[in-house]
Amino acid sequence: MSRLIVVSNRLPLGDNPSGGLVVALEDALRSSGGVWIGFSGEVVDDPSDDLQDNPGAPFDRLSFDLTQQDHEEYYLGYSNSILWPLCHGRPNLMRILPEYLDGYRRVNARIARMMLPHLREGDRIWVQDYHLFPLAAELRKLGVTAPVGHFLHIPFPGPADCAALPNPEELFEWLSHFDLLGFQAQRDLGAFAESARQLTQVTQLSPTSFLLDDRKIHAQVFPIGIDAAAFVAEAEAAPDEDRIRTLTDAKLMIGVDRLDYSKGIPQRFRAFQILLEQDPELIEKISFLQIAPPTRGEVEAYQVIREETEHLAGRVNGQFSTLNWTPIRFIHRSVPRNVLAGLFRQAHIGLVTPLADGMNLVAKEYVAAQNPEDPGVLILSRFAGAAEQMPDALIINPHDPHDLAQAMAEAMRMPKEERRRRHATLLEEVMSHDVAWWSRTYLRALRVSDQGHESDRMQ
Ligand code: ADP
Ligand code: G6P
Repeated sequence: MSRLIVVSNRLPLGDNPSGGLVVALEDALRSSGGVWIGFSGEVVDDPSDDLQDNPGAPFDRLSFDLTQQDHEEYYLGYSNSILWPLCHGRPNLMRILPEYLDGYRRVNARIARMMLPHLREGDRIWVQDYHLFPLAAELRKLGVTAPVGHFLHIPFPGPADCAALPNPEELFEWLSHFDLLGFQAQRDLGAFAESARQLTQVTQLSPTSFLLDDRKIHAQVFPIGIDAAAFVAEAEAAPDEDRIRTLTDAKLMIGVDRLDYSKGIPQRFRAFQILLEQDPELIEKISFLQIAPPTRGEVEAYQVIREETEHLAGRVNGQFSTLNWTPIRFIHRSVPRNVLAGLFRQAHIGLVTPLADGMNLVAKEYVAAQNPEDPGVLILSRFAGAAEQMPDALIINPHDPHDLAQAMAEAMRMPKEERRRRHATLLEEVMSHDVAWWSRTYLRALRVSDQGHESDRMQ
């Protein structure tokens, strides 16, 4: 039987493998007796080049450690100080150092070498995200002919941003070694096609196939979903004692994000300030809970966003708090999934307002968690990949705090009938395009693109 080999930077090793991606891939891996390969999270002086087995999952989990230098250059450096800001439309936040690119190439080559003894005839390899763009090229150098697909969880940059990379041509050379490229949204596929056209020698053979460096690759959109049925069940079962108690009868507005500059958290705080200034009737009637665990703290841009958001939250609270009410609660912690599901269900407004985002799973989780009889309102940035699938949310421009404040006011006063109508359509979308649909559809397309390549090879 054909095994599925998943490779991602982060290997899910915790006891609570609850992220949507993990659940999705777990299903696919379990049914094909697969293997998941990734970074253990351990930074050590002298890492072994043999992948380590991590028992305890219904599929094989093979991990590798990184040296401090690899971690700095490959993960913090090229991945998160060059590619992440670039793909999220913030080239001004890039920090380009030559050693970052060297480290990124070196670690990808090392991962390919470590994978080699574990590969078998008939395997299919599915590479996840921006940390591993060169992996197919490195595997091909070692003689691997198995189908290799890639899925990008974050946006693909347009030509102007791609041109700001230290190595734009090399990016496309790396990508040309995959059989199938998967993107979150139509806009990403469009950006890929346009960037390839402007920056490389590419021939577009059809809307979804390209000749790049004489290699035929397929590129398609596969919007990732959540494990919707499981999240609905979590929300329904959420314990009552986790309910947020307030001294007033304020309605809850919630935001849940990693503390990342792409998520538009300062813009939310500014919009909330405008709302309270312009609509004083809402004072003590709305309470904003922002849960945002710090992430990638060694990178300077993340230290800056932390200071900026703390300062803004303090300012709004100083300006508006009453003896009974604090407008913003800003929590830097991770929350267990069942508690999160319960909080979403209680919240009258779900705020998902990134300045740029591949998909944004929180938008889907918020919808899945609602009580369909009396649902809350999703406020969604037009720059989240999810906006292509969720037009029945209140779609806003996160750069315009007045637009966002206006949507908050509208959501606070939206009649139940309209909330139910909007929610029903959103829920239908979240349930029908769940994470199992995503992995199934992707893997089917990988099979088809490989069959296409086989017949090309035979001609
Ligand atoms: P990103 O992948 O950029 O972090 P997504 O919204 O696509 O953004 O996915 C984030 C995932 O992490 C969601 O499943 C969300 O529920 C989870 N998450 C984010 N913040 C927290 C938190 N504070 N506690 C628990 N889970 C969180
Ligand atoms: C985004 C990326 C993932 C990454 C996650 C958490 O979802 O697309 O690849 O794993 O953020 O970031 P971290 O740097 O902590 O792995």
